[in-house]
Amino acid sequence: MLSVDFSFIEEFINNEQIKSIHGEIFKAHEKFHGNKVFEAIGWLNLPKEYDKKIIEKIINEAKAIRKNCDIFIIIGVGGSYLGARAAIEFLHSGNYNILENTPKILFIGNNISSDELFEIMQFCKNKRICVNIISKSGTTIEPAIAFGFFKNFLENIHGKDGARERIYCTTDLGSNLEKLAHKMGYKTFIIPKNVGGRYSVLTAAGLLPVAVSGANIKKIIAGALNALNFYSIFGKNLNNCYKYAAVRNLFYRQGKITEIMVGYHPKMHYFTEWWKQLFGESEGKDGKGIFPASAIFSTDLHSIGQYIQQGPKNLFETVINIKKPNHDLIINNSQNDFDNLNYLCGKTVNFVNQKALEATLLAHTNGGVPNIVLNLDSFSEENFGHLVYFFEKACAISACLLGVNPFDQPGVENYKKEMFKLLGKSNF
Ligand code: PA5
Repeated sequence: MLSVDFSFIEEFINNEQIKSIHGEIFKAHEKFHGNKVFEAIGWLNLPKEYDKKIIEKIINEAKAIRKNCDIFIIIGVGGSYLGARAAIEFLHSGNYNILENTPKILFIGNNISSDELFEIMQFCKNKRICVNIISKSGTTIEPAIAFGFFKNFLENIHGKDGARERIYCTTDLGSNLEKLAHKMGYKTFIIPKNVGGRYSVLTAAGLLPVAVSGANIKKIIAGALNALNFYSIFGKNLNNCYKYAAVRNLFYRQGKITEIMVGYHPKMHYFTEWWKQLFGESEGKDGKGIFPASAIFSTDLHSIGQYIQQGPKNLFETVINIKKPNHDLIINNSQNDFDNLNYLCGKTVNFVNQKALEATLLAHTNGGVPNIVLNLDSFSEENFGHLVYFFEKACAISACLLGVNPFDQPGVENYKKEMFKLLGKSNF
């Protein structure tokens, strides 16, 4: 269960200020729950409007993939891979591929590095692989290039018929990829048109890879449903999701234009990457937006920690505190106390991590950097689903508070247009 601790912002924002923007929050709320003004809001009720047959299909295909391959290759970029990667690392480990049994799960097509593509193709030689290309548009250059190589790779080994058994396409209905999949007979999952890429983690885009990792996707949906029930209500006391959106907007008005999402376990790295993409593409437009940054502590306390503590006071932090990791370890006495650590004897590593978190909250807040703290008990599937929905809703509301469209990303097109010109593409 998620609880949000706002006590570390009290010196910076008071209740009156929060109350003063209730009206704006209500207007934003109405854009989703009243006169629906956006088309791309399929994610809003997804946790309660699931097609159970699709969930069963995902679970069954995941079982087949787990049985039939050593390596599961996920090809996609941006919203078409970050949610899946965030979930797999959050629910298992950043070291998933070292620790877990088969299949290993590798992500490609999220950059244009020939080295990476080459290395992974080399690694896949003589292994049983399945490929999942995830692309709503089906035309994004990074995944399209990688898919071309892996399609050939599979066809060269297994022929077209054998390749067909190993290729899974997750895409929009009617996209070029969907047409190709239909023609070739690839197994296909459709991402609903009204669910944008960065809001798609709770569709097959996220759920198939996560199910292949062995996690329970029904529990993820249950967690998201629980969040939906909490955060669909506008009341005199703002729900935590709306209060988070209100507070970050008030910080923005105070000139705090950077938000750092902080985790205390490396396995949260990709969760923070997913969050950055969600907020960066949704808010950063029309000359507005909070810059989404991220850090993993205590690692980054030894790098950007200095900047946060004593640099310009134009930032705030949002900390995700998962109180109980999957494993904990007791610290032993060392002989002669050579490292002066024996005062920790009998304490656990997680106890020390929690104290690092508490100490950093004090140090940063006292240093003029406000903190919002999201507390969760464990790295469970339910908690992952809840967090995803919390941030999706908070992001949509936040963008409305800023007066920008949460669901488009016109700026991303600019680099593509320039690149296509340089590459000599004729129609774009
Ligand atoms: O959030 C978004 O819409 C984008 O980040 C897309 O997910 C990303 O550009 C990939 O697009 P596509 O799924 O069409 O390949």
